[in-house]
Amino acid sequence: MPTTHAPEDAYTAEPFVPADAGLAALREAAAGCRGCPLHRDATQTVFGAGDTTARVMLVGEQPGDQEDRQGRPFVGPAGKLLDRALAEAGIDPGEAYVTNAVKHFKFTRAEPRKRRIHKAPTLREMTACGPWLAAELALVEPELIVVLGATAGKALLGSSFRVTEVRGTVLEHEIHGRPERLVPTVHPSSVLRAEDREGAYRGLVSDLGVAARALA
Ligand code: URA
Ligand code: SF4
Repeated sequence: MPTTHAPEDAYTAEPFVPADAGLAALREAAAGCRGCPLHRDATQTVFGAGDTTARVMLVGEQPGDQEDRQGRPFVGPAGKLLDRALAEAGIDPGEAYVTNAVKHFKFTRAEPRKRRIHKAPTLREMTACGPWLAAELALVEPELIVVLGATAGKALLGSSFRVTEVRGTVLEHEIHGRPERLVPTVHPSSVLRAEDREGAYRGLVSDLGVAARALA
């Protein structure tokens, strides 16, 4: 018999997200999320880190290889660069809540047992994982969201988001019924890949400076 829905239309974390849960309970529930197929090949769920009193929330794309192994966001090369840029811009990385639009590492391997290569999540996977980000936002209620790159931007502001058009500006946008202030910038991984790495890094620090002043 033909089915009316492709099974992937049902991808969502929704049934796994406990209502009225605190951060610890959310994190524990997220560890068992099966809302989309990304949990199958990844090592573990990488939930947000930081505490609920944080004034600023940083949102990345998805965990990378190191994050997948260690279970914490932004602990690999991109995270090290981000911490340095935040400190330079005047934001204490230790006082931020740090998370990702998608909570499982998506990757391919060129050959079996070879290095795992990051693969961008699809819109469907971002949408599936959205309820976790929504729950984190509702709990932390940050004064400002720093949007790190296109995936985070699309997850929070919709698919027409273009980082080059809005980076380094303070946006106001209603998200899940709450007015939010957001400062978009490039993803720290893009700085590591840039031809003019120093220039790209200065651009990131400059955008984060806008966020620092918006928090002052
Ligand atoms: N890139 C991301 O977007 N998030 C991480 O946690 C690490 C690298
Ligand atoms: Fe759940 Fe998100 Fe992981 Fe998919 S990526 S299984 S929705 S936590």
